[in-house]
Amino acid sequence: MEEKLDKLMFLRGQARLGGGQKRIDKQHATGRLTARERLDLLLDDGSFEEFDMFKTHRCHQFGMEKKKILGDGVVTGYGTVNGRIVYVFAHDFTVSGGSLSETFAEKICKVMDLAMKNGAPVIGLNDSGGARIQEGIESLAGYSDIFLRNVMASGVVPQVSAIFGPCAGGSVYSPALTDFTIMVKGNSYMFLTGPKVVKSVTYEDVTVEELGGASVHTTKSGVADYAAENGDDAIDYVKRLLSFLPQNNMENPPFVDTGDPPERRDDALNQIIPQNQNKSYDIKEVILRTVDNGEFFEIKEAFAPNLIVGFSRFNGNVVGIVANQPNCLSGVLDINSSVKGARFVRFCDCFNIPIITFVDVPGFLPGTAQEHNGVIRNGAKILYAYAEATVPKVTVVTRKAYGGAYCVMSSKHLRGDINYAWPTAEIAVMGAKGAVEILYGREAKTKDDPEGFLRAKEEEYAEAVSNPYVAARRGYVDDIIEPARTRFRIIKALEMLKNKRDTNPMKKHGNIPL
Ligand code: HXC
Repeated sequence: MEEKLDKLMFLRGQARLGGGQKRIDKQHATGRLTARERLDLLLDDGSFEEFDMFKTHRCHQFGMEKKKILGDGVVTGYGTVNGRIVYVFAHDFTVSGGSLSETFAEKICKVMDLAMKNGAPVIGLNDSGGARIQEGIESLAGYSDIFLRNVMASGVVPQVSAIFGPCAGGSVYSPALTDFTIMVKGNSYMFLTGPKVVKSVTYEDVTVEELGGASVHTTKSGVADYAAENGDDAIDYVKRLLSFLPQNNMENPPFVDTGDPPERRDDALNQIIPQNQNKSYDIKEVILRTVDNGEFFEIKEAFAPNLIVGFSRFNGNVVGIVANQPNCLSGVLDINSSVKGARFVRFCDCFNIPIITFVDVPGFLPGTAQEHNGVIRNGAKILYAYAEATVPKVTVVTRKAYGGAYCVMSSKHLRGDINYAWPTAEIAVMGAKGAVEILYGREAKTKDDPEGFLRAKEEEYAEAVSNPYVAARRGYVDDIIEPARTRFRIIKALEMLKNKRDTNPMKKHGNIPL
């Protein structure tokens, strides 16, 4: 027996070494951790249970028959994060550059299947040179098997991808299909085709960082949600993210006793809206002053910052927050912010997370750039997402809610459950200035004092239309509330909506404008 145990220990030691000490040293020299070191950081101490440590590839070409490494370049299994089960896979770059073989894919599919059966998140730690070039079609088949599972798991268990190194070619689509993607600044990159192919096709000279680094994907493309400072920061972000998520779509998100009194007033909110309606303010301050202990976990902070999305808690219960940001482009809705908002709202709806919407939006961004790139089609996404969402929806209009953007931002008409307005709210087809110019511009020219005439008409319009009372009289807002009491009113609304049940008509699936 002892001999057999020695052999087991020896083989386990071999598997743990992956591609060997030299390649581990090389990995460290690039500032990257190994797959196992990343899992150690992610999972609670001693909680990791590994599968398929002895699995090897079945390739017999290009010298691969002599190059069999136990585990075949991916470490898989399950463990706990803050006591809650997660299924994990971590690419091991020290084995054939973390490239994906047929058996590598089988290992990932095994944990994904278990995650689905048992209702727990899947966390993928990516660091891979893409398809295992020596294998060819088996590798492509393996990718496809993973993609299928990503799609089947979508909306059933949360899926999170963290990218620590290369993620090229076919590797990019699994993260793209997951709910959240985190990249590491300077060390990670994602692209379909690398700089050499780009050069040969489009004659562009571009570095990997310029093509698909963390900064590009968190500010321009929106492919990734967070650019981590380093590997530790990326893992920390994943852990904090998980603390807001339920294990699966049949559970509620985790309650935490935050100790922040529900009835806490914040008098500063009564002064936060500037006298001049064209002046901006920071909606994040409204969020921080309202939620439990000022804790807000922002998603996609650097992408489309005219709309803010993220997770927080009210009286210990998780919510998703969506807010127009007057500090950026006056909080206007455009293509990117619409897509950002739509995806976040749909995630919350999948996973039973109530949505709180703070509205201060002057409308959709005009111009050929927006129209030609499909602001109609893309703006329809956020409208669609709010309309189909059946989780509790509480809306607070702090100032402007103009035109189509009023309809879109969780209005009563899209099944908003509780819609509040601050006394400073202006709910109208457009702002008073624009409206008066259209209605009275020509007449003004016939007057001795056109400006004075328009000013008087503006006041008349604002008095008659740009206020919350017209909407309140129709019941489109349920109440006009004192800003200082916003927290308490939201918490009361969420308590009332705790057992909300709402459904959509039976269908295979809707046809969201993609
Ligand atoms: C097999 C690979 C590999 C791959 C890297 N290696 N990528 N082996 N298949 N795809 C091996 C290298 O041969 C090397 O082995 C080791 O991994 C480390 O690679 P290096 O090149 O030394 O590392 P580095 O300089 O850091 O460069 C990393 C890299 C580069 C940028 C990822 O290796 C690279 O460009 N690889 C190819 C990327 C690629 O084109 N992949 C295919 C994409 S097509 P040794 O033994 O020397 O340590 C694709 C289609 C799938 O994925 C579509 C599915 C839908």
